[in-house]
Amino acid sequence: MADETILIRMAGVSYKYPGSQLNAVDDLSMTFGKKDRIGLIAPNGSGKTTLFHLIMGLIKPDQGDIEIFGKKVVKEKDFIPVRQKIGLLFQDSDDQLFSPTVIEDVAFGPLNLGKSKEEAIDISKRTLQFLGLEDFADRITFKLSGGEKRLVALATILSMEPSVLLLDEPTTGLDSRTKAKLIDILNHLSLPGIVISHEYDFITAVTDHIYTMENGKINLDEELHIHKHHHVHQHGKQPHKHV
Ligand SMILES: Nc1ncnc2c1ncn2[C@@H]1O[C@H](COP(=O)(O)OP(=O)(O)OP(=O)(O)O)[C@@H](O)[C@H]1O
Ligand SMILES: [Mg+2]
Repeated sequence: MADETILIRMAGVSYKYPGSQLNAVDDLSMTFGKKDRIGLIAPNGSGKTTLFHLIMGLIKPDQGDIEIFGKKVVKEKDFIPVRQKIGLLFQDSDDQLFSPTVIEDVAFGPLNLGKSKEEAIDISKRTLQFLGLEDFADRITFKLSGGEKRLVALATILSMEPSVLLLDEPTTGLDSRTKAKLIDILNHLSLPGIVISHEYDFITAVTDHIYTMENGKINLDEELHIHKHHHVHQHGKQPHKHV
């Protein structure tokens, strides 16, 4: 019987981009449970975004198996429920936003899920309001600032009422106040998910376990424990190095 506490299971998954020498994701195995809020902090090029794209079926593994919601996903149609229930925030907002206006972009997902136009507009307005973006509905998407696009991209996912979030560097371009707002929003939603970020404070605030990735594999043996420490220095006012 399928273990219903597991949302995503990957077994020996490898993927190499066409023309590349190395696997971007290499023999990766992991399970992701329905209460997990996992952070990934890892160097550029270590395979984080590729992992998200494999989960969503945007690219297909060369080797290994992926099981989502207890079902093996292989064909395009297997990914339909995955894309309905898992909200992926793309690393680049421009990959997420393609409609002329904000409200059209936010309503696109609900319309695709079969909601009526009225319902889709209604839920989109509520989502924008929830994110404090109610004045953005009629703005031209491509004229938004980088940080504004980031929040609107998040709105396009939340309007689909996802049950899992995959957030690829959600804080890119956000000022510290907006970042604090995003932390509140994510903790209020309290959805299971995986968050990729290079920002220690942010990732600590919105996830429960943090791992790193290297050469296409998640290092599951070693959880990262990030902590702040306060200390005094004898010559604290002088410039000094921490080693
Ligand atoms: N479309 C592509 N075609 C060819 N190679 C790619 C492509 N996308 C990514 N790669 C390569 O695959 C590897 C993993 O890339 P990926 O984007 O998953 O890394 P990442 O951990 O998300 O990095 P970053 O922190 O910079 O976003 C890198 O070596 C990258 O150069
Ligand atoms: Mg990336």
